[in-house]
Amino acid sequence: MAAATLGEAMRHARGLGLARLDAELLLAHVCGIPRSRVVARPEQVLEAACGERFLELADRRALGEPLAYLTGRKGFMNIELEVTADVLIPRPETELLVTTALTLPLPERACVLELGTGSGAIALALAQARPAWGILATDVSPAALAVAGRNVSRIAPARVRLIGSDWFAALAPERFDLLLANPPYVAAGDPELAADVAAHEPGLALFAAEAGLADLAALAAAAPERLRPDGFILLEHGHRQGGAVRRLLHAVGLKQVRSLTDDAAKERVTIARQPP
Ligand SMILES: C[S@@+](CC[C@H](N)C(=O)[O-])C[C@H]1O[C@@H](n2cnc3c(N)ncnc32)[C@H](O)[C@@H]1O
Repeated sequence: MAAATLGEAMRHARGLGLARLDAELLLAHVCGIPRSRVVARPEQVLEAACGERFLELADRRALGEPLAYLTGRKGFMNIELEVTADVLIPRPETELLVTTALTLPLPERACVLELGTGSGAIALALAQARPAWGILATDVSPAALAVAGRNVSRIAPARVRLIGSDWFAALAPERFDLLLANPPYVAAGDPELAADVAAHEPGLALFAAEAGLADLAALAAAAPERLRPDGFILLEHGHRQGGAVRRLLHAVGLKQVRSLTDDAAKERVTIARQPP
């Protein structure tokens, strides 16, 4: 059944079980209009092609496909990123990594490396806030790097350098004032992982061996030889992994190791510092 008006399309989507906000955002996306118009003008007639596209996307949303993959867009901090199924959808929790980085006592022209950039969310949020920083971002996934490249070109051209690399493997032996990463940290079979996330987001972005700690351990192990004196490393991790990540960072000789909590009082980010 093709909906004739915005209001009918909304009723159809609600009948499929979609949340009102999701339905409004999808409808605004397919019609190329602001969400406020969807809310304010239910009598507006839908073009047939928009109606059909909306029904298709509403069905996919009802089956669990994330809204951001359907609209191809996700907001993070004050930027809007292109996202595809090749990249993790940037999470609000990750904003803690960025806001913490922005409070650190770093040189004005700090040299920064973000590992596993995905859509480029973290690197681009930093580039927007600190135009003088030199920011390098890496990912092992060529498909993710293509998405990040388009986001860099659109949001902050030439302000983030992208390199394909398996963690540090393809990088010159340079040192940084700040390393930061939101690496894969979910253990295979983790019952807390939402089924829709597991079904739709890239496994390469989510899962790590050794109970989810393998990539965090690899990054911690390399940090001392990649950080400048007094430099910082910031790692996002699962909310039960703070203790393990603190031990990993202590074990390689880093100082001032501490975990930070998110708005729900869960440990999400651990920070450490290279000795002088
Ligand atoms: C949890 S996602 C984070 C994406 C993005 N930084 C964000 O916060 O939205 C982890 C990212 O690490 C990348 N990755 C996984 N293994 C990697 C490796 N060995 N070397 C470099 N990047 C890797 C994945 O492709 C993915 O983009």
